[in-house]
Amino acid sequence: MFFTAALPSILLLSTKPWLAAANGRDQQPSAPSLGNTIYNDQNLRYIATVIVGGQSINVTLDTGSTDMWLNPRGGVGTFQDTGVSHEIHYGDGSPFINGTIGLIQVSLAGHVIPKQAFINITQISGLDQCGHGDCGLIGLGFDNPKVGIQNALTQAGQDGNTIGKSVLSNIFDMNPDKGRFFALSLSRERDARDSAPATLHISEYATRYESVQYEPIRPVYPLTETNWNLLSKGFSVNGRPLSLVANDKTVPGGNILIGLDTGNPGVCTRPEIREAIYSQIPGAVLSKNSSIPSRNFRTDQDIWVIPCNASLNLTMDFEGNSYPVHPLDLTAMYTHVGRDGVNRTICVNTITNCGMAKDVLYGDPFLRNVYTVYNFGNATTPPFVQFSSQTDVEEAARDFAIVRQELLAGNAPELGPADLVHLYDGPSAGIPANPTPPGSSCSSGVRVAENIANDATPSSNDSILAKHAPVIIGLLAANLVVLSILALAVVREVGSARSQSAPRYVPVHVRDNDSAPLTHPPFSDKKDYSDA
Ligand SMILES: *[C@@H]1O[C@H](CO)[C@@H](O)[C@H](O)[C@H]1NC(C)=O
Ligand SMILES: *[C@@H]1O[C@H](CO)[C@@H](O)[C@H](O)[C@H]1NC(C)=O
Ligand SMILES: *[C@@H]1O[C@H](CO)[C@@H](O)[C@H](O)[C@H]1NC(C)=O
Ligand SMILES: *[C@@H]1O[C@H](CO)[C@@H](O)[C@H](O)[C@H]1NC(C)=O
Ligand SMILES: *[C@@H]1O[C@H](CO)[C@@H](O)[C@H](O)[C@H]1NC(C)=O
Ligand SMILES: *[C@@H]1O[C@H](CO)[C@@H](O)[C@H](O)[C@H]1NC(C)=O
Ligand SMILES: *[C@@H]1O[C@H](CO)[C@@H](O)[C@H](O)[C@H]1NC(C)=O
Ligand SMILES: *[C@@H]1O[C@H](CO)[C@@H](O)[C@H](O)[C@H]1NC(C)=O
Repeated sequence: MFFTAALPSILLLSTKPWLAAANGRDQQPSAPSLGNTIYNDQNLRYIATVIVGGQSINVTLDTGSTDMWLNPRGGVGTFQDTGVSHEIHYGDGSPFINGTIGLIQVSLAGHVIPKQAFINITQISGLDQCGHGDCGLIGLGFDNPKVGIQNALTQAGQDGNTIGKSVLSNIFDMNPDKGRFFALSLSRERDARDSAPATLHISEYATRYESVQYEPIRPVYPLTETNWNLLSKGFSVNGRPLSLVANDKTVPGGNILIGLDTGNPGVCTRPEIREAIYSQIPGAVLSKNSSIPSRNFRTDQDIWVIPCNASLNLTMDFEGNSYPVHPLDLTAMYTHVGRDGVNRTICVNTITNCGMAKDVLYGDPFLRNVYTVYNFGNATTPPFVQFSSQTDVEEAARDFAIVRQELLAGNAPELGPADLVHLYDGPSAGIPANPTPPGSSCSSGVRVAENIANDATPSSNDSILAKHAPVIIGLLAANLVVLSILALAVVREVGSARSQSAPRYVPVHVRDNDSAPLTHPPFSDKKDYSDA
């Protein structure tokens, strides 16, 4: 899970009526989502409204963690206090939440849980404090009696395994005749016509995606370590599979290990995989240890600058199926005033290096492209995931061209990537992309990528960008290997989805003088996971 903290100024473009009207199905509701609709918060977080003791509270949905915590302004009101305190530390240990575990009635997506365990936040430090109406988090991961709320209650001599269950476990146990699964559709802001509504269904499917139940079953991996991690065949770029090797040698050959984390607003991977993808975009330039800002979480200062109208056809490959990724999900667009005082539009990579030992952590940019069923399994069937593609390649390519053209016309001018890199990082900076010519073998682009990936450059604390660097709250050094618990934060990107009239096409404005941290860390419980 990733969080967002203080916000940079956000630039709004005027709404294009034809864009807003282009497709009714991706309109965001303006009323609280008490049913299956969830909110897209600027393509960064997906938020459900829960009713807690009579009060509506917006909470982030996070498949990368399990516990629930609440921090509404004014408090949650009366609840049954277990008297057990629980703190969760992030990153280097300084950002944290702390509170007592309570039991309270919670309603989510039409289900009412009489006594749901949650952490009533009494201390919060270095984290978003209910900043933009998002005042809590629901973990959609697996119960694990050895960590988190369940463990804290058990350690205190209470029946943690029973009273400390997750929201989903409680709902499933209350409905033994129904399937133990949930299904998520994540919408995309700022596309003209290719998005789907954001929905959460528990033990049922959205009507328009019911056919997902006939899609291939993809068991979680490994089965002994229940997280939403899967085997994947990797990626294809413009139809050519990249040959990738899993970092973990126990992963069966021909596969990589990926995690699904709705709390991650980006896609995290290793530098060589990032390079293998972006080196295929004509005109793109890699700047190592760059001073060009990025809103995307990363553990290095390397950045791909990409012509804002350029893209590639990327698919996420799984046994038997390839799922196309919308080109809008591959690059992030923002405006920035350089040291020369000139305001420019810049497009950069959304797939970043997060210092992970494992292969890929798929966050929202991938998950927006599929309707996903997360099945917890039962006595006879192990946990699995099913995907149904939501992205049509031709339509997405047209959509991308139209949307980016509009944005480029209405914003500060763009500078060619090589010139931009020279301006920010000096005349010798920049490694140009080297796309594989059509029809040739897939090796050359990847070889380029490997060559340039080897001299990893750590970020510099005194760089002008340090102020903008996302604060990672996860278990950085030790536990980034645990994909499913990785949670990062990013700079807030764009305008609001809160009403239908809100502008929908808004690049981020990153300023040099933002002093507050822009992002928040992952929701991994340091203490708990180091035990795991
Ligand atoms: C968290 O709260 C508990 C109970 O109030 C307290 O004992 C503990 O010191 C707190 N932790 C931190 C880091 O302040
Ligand atoms: C719950 O949290 C609120 C706000 O932080 C605090 O005022 C209240 O005392 C807490 N309740 C309990 C029982 O700890
Ligand atoms: C992007 O824009 C540039 C400059 O207008 C143009 O030369 C180039 O062909 C465009 N590329 C694509 C893929 O549309
Ligand atoms: C991706 O594929 C679509 C459909 O074949 C095509 O229209 C589009 O031009 C392709 N995009 C790139 C960048 O190759
Ligand atoms: C277990 O789950 C599978 C897959 O969802 C389902 O087909 C089967 O009916 C379930 N078995 C029981 C006993 O609920
Ligand atoms: C930079 O450009 C954006 C978009 O055109 C505009 O909204 C913003 O005000 C500009 N910022 C400055 C400091 O000129
Ligand atoms: C990265 O750049 C900063 C200045 O921008 C410099 O101080 C630092 O030494 C560089 N780090 C590496 C590893 O090149
Ligand atoms: C939840 O978020 C939605 C969309 O931003 C907003 O309309 C609603 O008022 C929020 N509800 C609460 C209780 O904050």
